[in-house]
Amino acid sequence: MTENIIVAEDLVKRFGKVQALDGLDMTARSGHVTALLGPNGAGKTTFVRALATLLRADGGSLWVAGIDVARHPEQVRQVIGLAGQRAAVESTLSGRENVRMVARLFGQSSRQAAASTLRVLSQLGLEDVADRRVKTYSGGLRRRLDLAASLVGAPRLLLLLDEPTAGLDPSSRIQLWEAIRQLVANGTDVLLTTQYLEEADQLAGQVTIIDHGRVIANGTPTELKALAGSDVIEVRPHRARPTGIGRRAGRGRVGRAAHRHRYQPRNGAGRDRPVSHYGSRPESRRDPGRARRPQPTPTDAR
Ligand SMILES: Nc1ncnc2c1ncn2[C@@H]1O[C@H](COP(=O)(O)OP(=O)(O)O)[C@@H](O)[C@H]1O
Ligand SMILES: [Mg+2]
Repeated sequence: MTENIIVAEDLVKRFGKVQALDGLDMTARSGHVTALLGPNGAGKTTFVRALATLLRADGGSLWVAGIDVARHPEQVRQVIGLAGQRAAVESTLSGRENVRMVARLFGQSSRQAAASTLRVLSQLGLEDVADRRVKTYSGGLRRRLDLAASLVGAPRLLLLLDEPTAGLDPSSRIQLWEAIRQLVANGTDVLLTTQYLEEADQLAGQVTIIDHGRVIANGTPTELKALAGSDVIEVRPHRARPTGIGRRAGRGRVGRAAHRHRYQPRNGAGRDRPVSHYGSRPESRRDPGRARRPQPTPTDAR
C-alpha cells in the first residue's frame, strides 16, 4: 500500500501582487525521498513553510500524513521536522547538549531526551564527536548535527530546505546522502527542496518540478529522463494549467510566456547547475518583483 505523506490541492499563496503559489497540486508518496526542484522564486520555500505551518495559505488544501494543515497545525507540527541549510546550533555547547536541548524543547522528559538524543546521534554517526564543542566541528559534522536536531522529535516527515548537502566536501556529502537514505529506510519520509539536479538524482524516488508556484512536471528521475529520451529534459509550459509528464509537458505548445527548463542529470556537464535556464528572457523581465525582492533565507523559514 502506498500512502500519501503530502497532498496539496490548488494551493494558493500571495505576497502582495506576487503569486508565490498559484494553484499548486502535488502528492508525495510515503517511502521515498521527494525532491522539489525549481529555479529561484519558483515557490519552493513558500510551499515548505506552508507544510511547516509557518505560513497560512490563501486558498486550496494541504494535508501532511493525512492531517489538514489549516485545521490542525499543532498536530502537523508534531509529525514534521525542519532542517535548514545553515546549521542552527549553539557552537559553545557540545553536539549532545545541542540535541538534548531541542528534545527538551519538544517537551520530552529528561530521560526521554537523553534516549532520543542517543538514538539520533548514532543514526547520524555522531557518537564519537558528541561530546566535543560544536565550534570544533567541520561543516559536514554541523550539517549532520542540524539533521540530528531536526529528527529528535521522531518526525514522520522531514523537510530539508535548500540543497542540504551544498558546500560540503564530497565525502561528507556522500555520508549525508547515506544518512538520508537510512532515514527513509527506517520509515521517515523526506521532502527536500533544491535547485541542483545531482542531489535530486542521487536521493529522490520522486522529483516534482515547480515554477511560478505550479507543478510543471512530476515523476521518478528515470521517468523524467525518459520523457526526453536523453539526459536533458526540456519542459515548456504555456499559460494553460499544468499537464504533468507524458502528456503535454515537454512537448506542449510554446506560448508567449514559455520558458525552458533543463533537467540535466548527473553525467558530467551541467552537474550542480541550477535546474532551469531561461532562454533569452532577462531575469528582470520575467517578474520585476522577483528581481528586486530579497529571497528569503532558510533562516527565515525557521
Ligand atoms: N515573505 C515574502 N514577502 C514577499 N514576497 C515573498 C515572500 N516570500 C516569498 N516571496 C516571493 O514569492 C515567490 C516565491 O518565493 P520562494 O517560495 O522563496 O521561492 P523559491 O524558494 O523557490 O526560491 C518569489 O517571487 C518571492 O520573491
Ligand atoms: Mg527558497
